[in-house]
Amino acid sequence: MTVRRIVTLGEPVLRRPAKKIHRFDYSTQQLVDDLFDTLRAAPGSGLAAPQIGVSLRALVTIYEENERVILNPEIVEISEEQEEGEEGCLSVPGWYGPVNRKLSLTIRGRNPKGKPIKIKTDGWEARIFQHEIDHLDGIMYTDRMTDEQRRRVHKVESKDEEEELEDEQVIA
Ligand code: NI
Repeated sequence: MTVRRIVTLGEPVLRRPAKKIHRFDYSTQQLVDDLFDTLRAAPGSGLAAPQIGVSLRALVTIYEENERVILNPEIVEISEEQEEGEEGCLSVPGWYGPVNRKLSLTIRGRNPKGKPIKIKTDGWEARIFQHEIDHLDGIMYTDRMTDEQRRRVHKVESKDEEEELEDEQVIA
């Protein structure tokens, strides 16, 4: 089990578009295992490879005990409809704010063995995927906020307060 250090805002890897994965071998599986170990330890609902300092297009999510992994994800369908929800980012610890995300999407990509996969998702899980795919493109959730939403960004001071909020928020 390897829990990696989570990179925080200010480190250039978070702003760099990550590279497509071409080799699907032991090191790819190792990267995915490290992402899951780090996400469970955080804990959080999603983690992208640049957040552990690896500029490759890999992400994992854990939502309601459903663990998913996708490499080289591409959004192939996305709903028009969007909804505001509260997000936090493991790379910007303690801060939260409202962001609009699309309600449902379909993503195509590869599994760690290189086999093509398709994921259809909606609601909070779709929000996590949008947050993580943005990380692969060097985009932070605050970049997606309107000016009005940016004024509602707030810091949660204590760990207790943070735990209370966890159910209504995505931390990814
Ligand atoms: Ni994040």
